[in-house]
Amino acid sequence: MASIAIDGPAGAGKSTIAKLVAKEMNYIYVDTGALYRAIAYYFVTNSIDIENEEELSKACEGISVEIKYEQDAQQVYLNGENVTAFLRTEETGNMASKSSAKAPVRAALLDLQRDMAKEYNVVMDGRDIGTNVLPNAEVKIYLTASSKERANRRYKELLEKGEQADFDKIEADIIERDERDMNRAIAPLKQAEDAILVDSSDMGIDEVVNAILSAAKSKIL
Ligand code: DC
Repeated sequence: MASIAIDGPAGAGKSTIAKLVAKEMNYIYVDTGALYRAIAYYFVTNSIDIENEEELSKACEGISVEIKYEQDAQQVYLNGENVTAFLRTEETGNMASKSSAKAPVRAALLDLQRDMAKEYNVVMDGRDIGTNVLPNAEVKIYLTASSKERANRRYKELLEKGEQADFDKIEADIIERDERDMNRAIAPLKQAEDAILVDSSDMGIDEVVNAILSAAKSKIL
């Protein structure tokens, strides 16, 4: 089985790009952020105090997360219930950013991610895929963009959905999330030594996809 790891900060376009690359390569797309979000959703809905170590460990022991594919789209099951529709809220995202720094949370998801890569050809996106989850991935990409550009994309996305958006707040949130993801003690976000850096600030989607596909085709027969 072959793996393409795509890591990078929030809002860099990882999921859009990873989905397109997976389609072209005929690989399965694994969105690992959704797994951290599922656990965060559990913490929010069960009012778990993640700063209380005992409470956190106990909660993690009782959580089962599974990935299934329905109509080619990843679905995440938490203790047998499909929670995919609840994962993209700000509340869940904020909790995921905090709870994903905790050791029992990361340990609870490691085997699931590695097992997916053992069973299928995958394009897996996240923060520590190339550095920690799949250190032997055939292709590693570190996909980033400036915080201004990432905030701008998110801002436009919200306006298109007819939602209120405050550019400065969006950029401040992005910078805060980067700070947390990059400076946590366990599996922080960083470029793997053998990863290819792709800065998409001034690149279109097709251009980024093509750059990754040509890297993939040169390394995977
Ligand atoms: O990519 P995302 O926004 O859905 O991820 C949600 C949070 O989960 C993010 O703040 C960082 C964390 N995460 C992680 O620590 N490791 C991963 N492999 C994927 C996500």
